[in-house]
Amino acid sequence: MRSGHLRIDNVPLTRGEDGTPSDAYAAWLNSVGEGFYGKPSTGERLEQMFQSHQIDARVLTAVYDDSRDTKLVDSLVPVATYASFTKTLNVGDGLLPAHLVTTVTVRPTHRRRGILRKLMSDDLAKAKSAGFAVAALTATEATIYGRFGFGRCTEAQRMNLDVRGEVRFHAVPVGSVVQVVPSKLSDIAAEVFERFHTTQRGSVGRQEAYQRHATGAWGPDGQEPDPKTRAAVYLDDAGVIQGFVTYAFTGWEPAPITLEIRDLVAATPIARRELFRFMTAHDLIERVSYPAAAANDPLGWALEDPARLSYLEREHGLWVRVLDVQAAFAARKYTGSGFFTLRVADVQGLTSGSYAFEITEGTPEITRIEDSSKASIACDVQVLGPLLLGTAPIADLLAAGIVTLDDPSDLGRLAALVDLPGIPHAINGF
Ligand SMILES: CC(C)(COP(=O)(O)OP(=O)(O)OC[C@H]1O[C@@H](n2cnc3c(N)ncnc32)[C@H](O)[C@@H]1OP(=O)(O)O)[C@@H](O)C(=O)NCCC(=O)NCCS
Repeated sequence: MRSGHLRIDNVPLTRGEDGTPSDAYAAWLNSVGEGFYGKPSTGERLEQMFQSHQIDARVLTAVYDDSRDTKLVDSLVPVATYASFTKTLNVGDGLLPAHLVTTVTVRPTHRRRGILRKLMSDDLAKAKSAGFAVAALTATEATIYGRFGFGRCTEAQRMNLDVRGEVRFHAVPVGSVVQVVPSKLSDIAAEVFERFHTTQRGSVGRQEAYQRHATGAWGPDGQEPDPKTRAAVYLDDAGVIQGFVTYAFTGWEPAPITLEIRDLVAATPIARRELFRFMTAHDLIERVSYPAAAANDPLGWALEDPARLSYLEREHGLWVRVLDVQAAFAARKYTGSGFFTLRVADVQGLTSGSYAFEITEGTPEITRIEDSSKASIACDVQVLGPLLLGTAPIADLLAAGIVTLDDPSDLGRLAALVDLPGIPHAINGF
């Protein structure tokens, strides 16, 4: 596609004649690196990223500015990047294929000219025609994506645990923890994650890079082995591996002396608790830090002294954009039986309209209906993500002024049908 000097092209994941990743791919990747202030990828680092992106089957898009002087900048260097790939989203009653958007960058010289708007609008329309009911992303800034219909669905916070002295848990220890070299996680990490993923509402399937991080092949700063990575697995009483943790010592200074949890995946709540217990059992360590705790993390309930926990860096995590109301909302749970209508305003036009929900013993039948000024629930498309995943009770969305009810006295009945227990949580970024 061409617009003025700007040209939008797909960047195929192909190799050049010498067998290395194509120059177009290398330029695309390094443009992403520049957008996020990373270091350039060449040689083995480039090769590894290429392989990982191939395994994810990413669809890469670049915007080129053909008016630039090629004596100053190579014509293969994009002014904007964008990518997507497919994973699943756990909506509480199963896994829904999700169109994941990532590596969105626009060069400072080309910002605020509508490049992101063009890339995003085209891509969401394509994803909808391809049959996706939802798109999702993890955003660097909370104010960018609402205008494209994405709603904030999960939050994560850094949880610091003061581990000086004996950390006591209410529950007695169960099962066992074995410290392993990280390479032992090569089969375990993906398998345990899949079991976690099928049980955790809000969880999104993982890109292949997580596997490389778990095994220590990639460190937190890039595609190089990280000898500091440590790992342990949790086995239940039957000897089945139910969780793993990877972590690193961050140095003797500055205080407090800290073990940083890089990844902790547990297929059961007991596995999670026991992995945290293991993390508190390291001599000389004063603090254990975990960046992906849920906003309602249960660890505080497990400790005899919950004051050992402190929380900071609470951040929005997963943003979901509903593309097909009927398919998305048919995939989640309801409680009991009842009827309501939902009217959606969507400036991109992908979901606008009214829908009737007939719920029979928790199972929905959703049909499109003629628009009417009376709808049990009315909202903008960006509220559909949180409604779908049950991020907040409907009473909170009403109090926030982001849904309206035709009959406010109907709130209790609607909440009983639609609200979900607990909150969704995602432990990955992409
Ligand atoms: C964020 C970014 C991709 C926007 O690209 P862009 O091409 O300048 O955006 P557009 O010109 O298409 O703007 C689209 C809309 O988003 C808004 N917008 C763009 N960047 C924004 C920001 N950082 N914060 C809030 N709103 C923003 C624009 O005002 C515009 O709004 P409007 O159409 O409703 O008036 C670009 O600034 C960037 O690359 N930033 C650094 C990397 C980054 O943060 N990427 C996002 C990763 S999740």
